[in-house]
Amino acid sequence: MSEGNGAPADWVNPLRDRRDKRMPRIAGPCSVVIFGVTGDLARKKLMPAIYDLANRGLLPPTFALVGFARRDWADEDFAEVVYDAVKTHARTPFRQEVWDRLAEGFRFVQGTFDDDEAFVRLSETLHKLDEERGTGGNHAFYLSIPPNAFPAVCEQLSKSGLADNPDGRWSRVVIEKPFGHDLASAEALNATVNSVFPESSVFRIDHYLGKETVQNILALRFANEMFEPIWNAHYVDHVQITMAEDIGLGGRAGYYDGIGAARDVIQNHLLQLLALTAMEEPVSFHPSELQAEKIKVLSATRLVEPLDQNTSRGQYAMGWQGGQKVVGLLDEEGFSKTSTTETFAAITLDVDTRRWAGVPFYLRTGKRLGRRVTEIALVFKRAPHLPFDTTMTEELGKNALVIRVQPDEGITLRFGSKVPGNSMAVRDVNMDFSYGSAFAEASPEAYERLILDVLLGEPSLFPVNEEVELAWKILDPALQNWASHGSPDPYESGTWGPESAFEMLHRSGREWRRP
Ligand code: BG6
Repeated sequence: MSEGNGAPADWVNPLRDRRDKRMPRIAGPCSVVIFGVTGDLARKKLMPAIYDLANRGLLPPTFALVGFARRDWADEDFAEVVYDAVKTHARTPFRQEVWDRLAEGFRFVQGTFDDDEAFVRLSETLHKLDEERGTGGNHAFYLSIPPNAFPAVCEQLSKSGLADNPDGRWSRVVIEKPFGHDLASAEALNATVNSVFPESSVFRIDHYLGKETVQNILALRFANEMFEPIWNAHYVDHVQITMAEDIGLGGRAGYYDGIGAARDVIQNHLLQLLALTAMEEPVSFHPSELQAEKIKVLSATRLVEPLDQNTSRGQYAMGWQGGQKVVGLLDEEGFSKTSTTETFAAITLDVDTRRWAGVPFYLRTGKRLGRRVTEIALVFKRAPHLPFDTTMTEELGKNALVIRVQPDEGITLRFGSKVPGNSMAVRDVNMDFSYGSAFAEASPEAYERLILDVLLGEPSLFPVNEEVELAWKILDPALQNWASHGSPDPYESGTWGPESAFEMLHRSGREWRRP
């Protein structure tokens, strides 16, 4: 029975599900096919996550993994590649018996996306696995390939009958960003995918939604009483969402040149963080209820005008990072010397709802910044009156609640406290919650959670096409404005971005946090 919008037929509504939710759910019999098996994502994230799931006992004994690529590999060659990936990148310790059982289900199909014969071989391989290994006719197709190859693969899956869902079996497609280049291309892409797979069988990966700290935004907001009364425009002055990275883009020109920071990160990860921070309480955690709230808040979100003053984009130049001299983007291998691709982007958004009217949301992301940190900071208004001598509160800033997404996962509450001594001087202090010390068990990798959810048919953590299109609708005016305005502003590697980003906040008397 279908549970309605966005939920596949075999999804179990948690409100009606009486099972003990503390028991881990184990995926049923199935095969996963990875297209793009020779790529970085497959080696660094997907293969290790599959091993980690097997190691945690969350995959069925009958699980199979099928690689599809152009290389002339035998099953054993493919197994060797997976082995290396697992040995280098898996989160959990290597256990020979887990590996041996998993590797029995590895198969490789050689072919290209326009080769009908290769898809016939893929279909035969999967049916053989269904019979011999008992994978139950359930197949997940992971498209870890450039989006321009999606139409060809979807069409082949449709032609070979692999996209069908006969007699209670399932067939799901997993797609990685970029989900288009702008609103028009995202709509076209969604139409192509949806012409083969119904929306309930499409799982779009935004790996930020698989992070524990991101899911904890919902727990923090909706499992507690003390934050809700202040989570609004009466108390919050503004919100800052930062995703800073210290790495450069050497080796990633093929993907990144012409894409840039806003398309790479703001369109997906940061707007999803905004949606979870700003949305209203969902009726339940049923996927359709959660999606409805995210869609509502994204529909109310828009860029603040004028765009020249309320957005900023930059490109890293030579500088120092971790004591080492690093080159600027234009000298990175593979980038054009005249590239105008931004490696830093910041935007100002208004969320036009009763809760948030007048509260700017500042989003920024960049490569080669001061350090790697992702956080959401709610910065509160100042107390309306301070009964202190002004010299006593010179070191008092604005109160802040900071969700530390990574690294050093946790939450910080920043507030003023009396400095010990005879005077009534007040200074900012931090009260910290840290995942590392509060919980004994380590958090799973985002990809473990998301791949397991695909196999369980649990769609809550996957953005639906409407969310993707709304995010492009929000961002498109900034992209168009930048496209008609020459080059991004240079910033020195190892700093916190271009001057224009600082000015963007200074105009309203605010400042970026220095995480
Ligand atoms: C990806 C982006 O989605 O996220 C990369 O394409 C970025 O450019 C990466 O480096 C960061 O992910 P994480 O989980 O390390 O914050």
